[in-house]
Amino acid sequence: MELKYLGHSAFEIRTNSGVILIDPFLVKCPDFDYSNTTDIFVTHGHADHLGKAPQIAIKTGALITAVFELAKYCARYGVNVNGISLGGWISYDWGRVIALPAFHSNSSDDGTYTGCPVGYLFEIEGKRIFHSGDTCLNSEMKVIGEVYKPDIAILPIGGHYTMDVENSIIASDWIGAKTVIPMHYNTFPQINADIDLFKSEISKKGKNPLILNIEETITL
Ligand code: NI
Ligand code: MN
Repeated sequence: MELKYLGHSAFEIRTNSGVILIDPFLVKCPDFDYSNTTDIFVTHGHADHLGKAPQIAIKTGALITAVFELAKYCARYGVNVNGISLGGWISYDWGRVIALPAFHSNSSDDGTYTGCPVGYLFEIEGKRIFHSGDTCLNSEMKVIGEVYKPDIAILPIGGHYTMDVENSIIASDWIGAKTVIPMHYNTFPQINADIDLFKSEISKKGKNPLILNIEETITL
């Protein structure tokens, strides 16, 4: 399995039986080749997360998974959607996913209510990867650590709209993942983050801070 960072909160996961895009807001890599995408996961309806999801789904036939109201919004584009909510594991050819709570707001650019914001925990090829979406520090993260035990946590660190570096350090402790990947920082001036501080504090906790460059790929 390969994980590629596409800037902001966007990631691609290439598995043995499908190619997943998460929050495909691709301003940092506008020429990215998404033609093999089979599944798109969107954490909430804000433009910096929904990104080009409907357009990519139109071109590739990929299935968009999102919370019911957001999935319904995407269905307006005539694409395949899987409307889900918090609660249970959802199965795919390449593994399974559960939507977990995020504390944030949620609407589309035109003001449509798009349900509750979520994070996703992916279980693929024996690994558990948690992408928290936009969220503040919250006590649900203790449950995520205790019950779901992710190997990798992908967390926002930019502040202003989400957790900042300080709170992401606490979150990484609660979630318990050995590897922590920062996201949602340095895209706009409001979310500039001290990445060196993140790196040193995560290391002090005995964890592995994994700072990915745009379009950098790691093998898991
Ligand atoms: Ni947001
Ligand atoms: Mn955002």
